[in-house]
Amino acid sequence: MKKHISLFLISILVIGLLAACGTNKKDSTNEGNSADGKKVLIMGTSADYPPFEYVDTAKSDEIIGFDVDLAKTIADKLGYEVKVKDIEFSGLVQALKSGQVDFVLAGMTPTEDRKKNVDFSDIYYTAQHMIVSKKDSGIEKLEDLKGKTVGVQLGSIQEAKAKEIAEKVELKIENRNRVPELIQEIMTGRFDAAIIEDTVAKGYFEKEKNLAGFTISDDPEEAGSAIAFPKNSELTDDFNKVLKEMKENGELDKLIVKWFGGEK
Ligand code: ARG
Repeated sequence: MKKHISLFLISILVIGLLAACGTNKKDSTNEGNSADGKKVLIMGTSADYPPFEYVDTAKSDEIIGFDVDLAKTIADKLGYEVKVKDIEFSGLVQALKSGQVDFVLAGMTPTEDRKKNVDFSDIYYTAQHMIVSKKDSGIEKLEDLKGKTVGVQLGSIQEAKAKEIAEKVELKIENRNRVPELIQEIMTGRFDAAIIEDTVAKGYFEKEKNLAGFTISDDPEEAGSAIAFPKNSELTDDFNKVLKEMKENGELDKLIVKWFGGEK
């Protein structure tokens, strides 16, 4: 009889504990604790975008880059630890919506369309669209894209830009999930050109000497980057405060110099 009662009590305890975990999860899906007791935030990114986020395969399989440093600096000041999760760019907004990640740092531009689904921080870096092609392609202005195949990253604003250009200049748009694939397709001649943000394109010019490009907009915010959060997340304000501090005290500039080599 005694045995039965204690079994009964234990099962009640277990059920209670499980229920407690369940409710805890509601507050924030991903807040676990790290070894030193800090809360862990999951950062979603698409690690195909040097120098924002990429893997330097020669050195390790760790995701590094400007965005990773920025996330870690901000989170550290707020008492969080960051774990980075690699997701295809076109899946990042959904990952935020479904609670798979706590925030997204992926060189993501705060477009009106995305703002319907997620919240954004202030802009932390500005950039422009660049048309990238082989130096001998003869592509020097938008009109030269006539009849050409132009690659873009799936779900990016560059894809939207390509569609906009296609209204005036007749061209064929192709998309790929990852930016290195775009470069690869140009190198093999399957694509004539690609639209890539200038900061990222410049990194590839160093590796691929026969590539060149020109920027096509004069609004530096057109391809600017901000941090994305689930709608109404408390993190947005907290992150914005630290971001503002970092802009004022030069810390952001230091990171920019470290990863982008000192421009802007
Ligand atoms: N800024 C562009 C956009 O928001 C492209 C960002 C791509 N980021 C990446 N990690 N692949 O659509």
